[in-house]
Amino acid sequence: MTDTTQKIYLKDYTPPAFAVESIDLDIRLFDEYATVGAKLSVARQSAGELELFGRALSLLDVRVNGKALNADEYTLDDERLHLHDVPDVATIETLVRITPQTNTTLEGLYQAGTGDNAMFVTQCEPEGFRKITFFPDRPDVLCVYTTRVEADKKYPILLANGNLLEVGDAGDERHFAIWHDPTKKPSYLFACVIADLQVMSDHYTTIEGRDVLLEIYAAAQDIDKCHVAMQALKDAMRWDEENYGRAYDLDRYMIVATGQFNMGAMENKGLNIFNTSCTLSSPETTTDERSFFVKSVIAHEYFHNWTGNRITCRDWFQLCLKEGFTVFRDQSFSGDFCSKAVQRIEDVATLRAAQFPEDAGPLAHPVRPESFVEINNFYTMTVYEKGAEIVRMIANLLGKEKFRQGTDEYFRRYDGQAVTVEDFLSALSVADARVLDFLAWYRQPGTSLVSGDFVFDENSGVLTVNLAQKTRHVPNFAAPVALPIPVATAVFDSKTGKLLAEKMLLLTKAEDSFTFDDLPLDKGAAPLVSVLRDFSAPVNLDFAYSDEDLAKLAAFETQGFNRWQAVQTLVNRLLFGKSERVDLLIEALQVAVPKLLDSDAMLAARLFDLPSEKELAMGYETNYQPQAVKAARDALKAQVASALRDEIAAWYHALPAESYTDTPQARGRRLLKNVLLDLALSARIDAAADWAYERYENASCMSERLGALSAMVDFALPKAAQYLADFYERFADEELVIDLWFSVQAGAATSSVADIAALMARSDYDWQTPNRVRTTLGGLAAKPTMLWTQAGLDLYLSAVEKLDALNPVIAARLLSALARWYTLGAADKAMAQDKLTALQAKVSSKNVREYLDNLLDDSLLAKA
Ligand code: ARG
Ligand code: ZN
Repeated sequence: MTDTTQKIYLKDYTPPAFAVESIDLDIRLFDEYATVGAKLSVARQSAGELELFGRALSLLDVRVNGKALNADEYTLDDERLHLHDVPDVATIETLVRITPQTNTTLEGLYQAGTGDNAMFVTQCEPEGFRKITFFPDRPDVLCVYTTRVEADKKYPILLANGNLLEVGDAGDERHFAIWHDPTKKPSYLFACVIADLQVMSDHYTTIEGRDVLLEIYAAAQDIDKCHVAMQALKDAMRWDEENYGRAYDLDRYMIVATGQFNMGAMENKGLNIFNTSCTLSSPETTTDERSFFVKSVIAHEYFHNWTGNRITCRDWFQLCLKEGFTVFRDQSFSGDFCSKAVQRIEDVATLRAAQFPEDAGPLAHPVRPESFVEINNFYTMTVYEKGAEIVRMIANLLGKEKFRQGTDEYFRRYDGQAVTVEDFLSALSVADARVLDFLAWYRQPGTSLVSGDFVFDENSGVLTVNLAQKTRHVPNFAAPVALPIPVATAVFDSKTGKLLAEKMLLLTKAEDSFTFDDLPLDKGAAPLVSVLRDFSAPVNLDFAYSDEDLAKLAAFETQGFNRWQAVQTLVNRLLFGKSERVDLLIEALQVAVPKLLDSDAMLAARLFDLPSEKELAMGYETNYQPQAVKAARDALKAQVASALRDEIAAWYHALPAESYTDTPQARGRRLLKNVLLDLALSARIDAAADWAYERYENASCMSERLGALSAMVDFALPKAAQYLADFYERFADEELVIDLWFSVQAGAATSSVADIAALMARSDYDWQTPNRVRTTLGGLAAKPTMLWTQAGLDLYLSAVEKLDALNPVIAARLLSALARWYTLGAADKAMAQDKLTALQAKVSSKNVREYLDNLLDDSLLAKA
C-alpha cells in the first residue's frame, strides 16, 4: 500500500527515462466492464527504469517486443508498473480490464447517466489516464495517439481525439471507429466518448484557409440549446486569430456535453468534454449570467488549444502556466462582448470572494505551488484567478503591442513542448526585461496589502503619491519579498472632476513615492488621486481617501471599475463602523443610477452591490461573529433601501417590460430590475410582492422568472410555495433548471439548515451529479450564520464524508469553504475544530486528507 499522504516536490523534478513515440489504444466497452489494449513505442532518453502509472486496473497481459513477461520481469503495485530491463527501443503492450460502470469518481473512463441516458466519457486531467491504461501519465510525455473504440450499436456515437480514419461493423451488434490525432499530446488531453447523442454541426474557415467541422454533441432534447455555444466557439476562434495570431490546427473540433462532470469543462485535444451547465443555453431555461458564462467557458477551452495543448506544462506544478494565461484570455474575450468595466467588476468580485480567503488561510499556496500530495487539490482560485491576474499585470505593463510581441515569441519558441513558468516569462521578456521580476508573484503566497496617501504642495504645485506594500509571512515559505506592483493612477480636479493626469506607477520596493508636477490645475484648486484603477494588481488596498473623496470618485471617475470601487470602499467602511456617512452612499446612488439607467444598466445594478457575508468575514482574524456581520449587512441594506424607497419604485417602473433580446444592454436592464425588486422588498414597499408575481407570470426569459422567484423565496412571500411548485412542474424535464430550483431554496435567506437537509433527502437529489450536490451545499456555504452551527456543520461534513468515498475531487473542494474556521469566536471555533477532527478519523481519500490535515495544522493557522 502506498503512503497516501506522500508529498511531491517541484525541486525533485526529473525528466522521464523513456520517451513515447506513439500509442495505439484499443478500447472495447461491454455491459459490465471494458478492456483496454495499449501498444506503446518507447525510446530511451536517459538512465532509469520505464515507469508506467496505473490505478484501479486489472492487468491481463503485458509484453515487451511481442514477448509475454514472466511475473519476475516486472513489479506492480497500486500506482505503478515497473518493467525491468526494457531495451532502449521497444514496443510495450498491455491489456487491462476496467469497470467504467462503477466508477463514481468521474475520473478516467466513467459512465454518466443511467438506463437510456447512459453514456461513457473520460476525464483525464490531471491523472485520470492512468485509470484507463498503464502509461507514463505525466504532462512531459507527449506522443501521437491512434484510438480504436468499440461498443454495442446502442451507442451510435464513438469519438476520440483527432481525425476519423475508419468506422465499421465488429459483429454481434457491435461497431467500431478508429481515430488518429496527428498532434503530439500529453495523456491528460486524451478523450473518448461512447454515447447515444445528437449533434449540431457548423463550419468555420480559419484565417489560414482551413475548413473546420464544428460539432456539439448533446442529448436530443438539448440539441436546440447549443446555438449560444456554437456562436461562442466561432467568436472565440476569430478572436484568437485577431488578438494572438493563433489559428485552429485540426479539421474537426468536437464538444460533448454531459450532465455528470466534476468541473466546468475540459480542453481535450479536438474533443472537449463539457458539463451541460457550461454548454446549454436557451432564453427559457438559462439565466443571462449563466448564458454569458457558457460563452466564456467555451472560449476558455478553445483558447487552451494553444495555451495548454500546443504548449503544455512540464509538470503539474506549472498548472498556472496554462490556466492563468487561459483565464486571462477568456476574461479579455468576455470583456470584448459586454461592458469591460462590469466584466472587470465581476472578475475582481470572484477573486475577492474566493481567492483572497484561500490566500489568507491554511490552504494558502503560491500560484505555482512547490509541493502537493494530491494535484487535484490544486485546481484552485489561486492557480486560476490569481494566475490570470499576474498575466494581466504583465499585459498592462507592456501595453498591447509589446505584449503581443512577447506572446508571439512564446508561441514561436515553445510550440510542441512542455514548459515552465520561467520559460513563459523568458519569452515575454524579449519585449520588456521587467517581466522577469514577476516570477516572485508566482512563488510567493499571501495577498499583499498596499497602503498609501497623497500630499499636494500648493506652493510648488507638486503632488506626491506615497505607496507601501506588505505581505504576511505564510508559514513554510521564505520571508516575503517586495513584489512589482503596478498601480494605475489618475488625478482629478477635486472640485470640477476634470481628469488631469493618468499614469501607471510601478511599486517595486517596500515603500516608494511618486510625483506629478505639471498638473493643469486651476488656481486654488486641489487634486484628487484615484489609485489601483481597473484593479491593476491583485492586492488589498488601504488608501487614505476621505469619505468625501470616495463620494467624489463615485461621481468623477471615468473608469467604471474605480467608480464602483469607490462606492464599495464606502460600503465597507460603513459596515465595519469606520464611517457614519451613509448619506454619502445614498447620495452617490441617487446621482449615479439615473445617469446609467439608459447607458449602462448593468453597472447601475452593480453599484448596489454589498460584499457577501463570506467576503465580510475576511475582516476578522479572530472572534468572527457570523450573526453580527449578517445583522450589520442586513441593516445597511434596509437603511439604503428605505432611504431610496421612492427612487427604487420609480426606477423599477422606468424599466418597461420588453421582449427577450440577448444584448449587453438588455441583460443589464434585466439584472437591474431584479436588483431593484429585491431592494423594493427590503424597503417593504407593499406593492412589491405583486411586482414579483407579475414578473414571474409575464417573464420573457429565465433571468426574469428566476429573479422574481428568488425574490419571493428570499422574502418568504405568501405565494412563494405556489410559484416554486409551478416552476418545478414547468421545468420537470430540465435537469439544469431543477438545479436552479434547488439553489434558490438552499441559498434563500429564509431557509434553514433543516430545509436544506430536506432538499438533500429528496429522491431527485443525486449524489452522483456534482451539479446537484453543489446547489444545496453551495447555498449552505454561502450562509455563514447557518454553516457555522452544529446542525449546519453536521450536514456539511456528513456530505464531505459521503463524497470522500464516492467522489474525492468534489469532497475536497467542499472543504475549501471551511478554510477560515479558526477565525470564529471561541465557542464556534471549538465546535468546528471538534467536528473537523472527528471527520479526519473517518475519511480515506488523499484529496480530503490533504485538505483536512492542512485545515487542522496549527502551524499553518499562525499569523505572522
Ligand atoms: N483544464 C480544465 C479547465 O480549466 C479543468 C480540468 C480540471 N479537472 C480536475 N479534475 N481537476 O478548463
Ligand atoms: Zn482551463
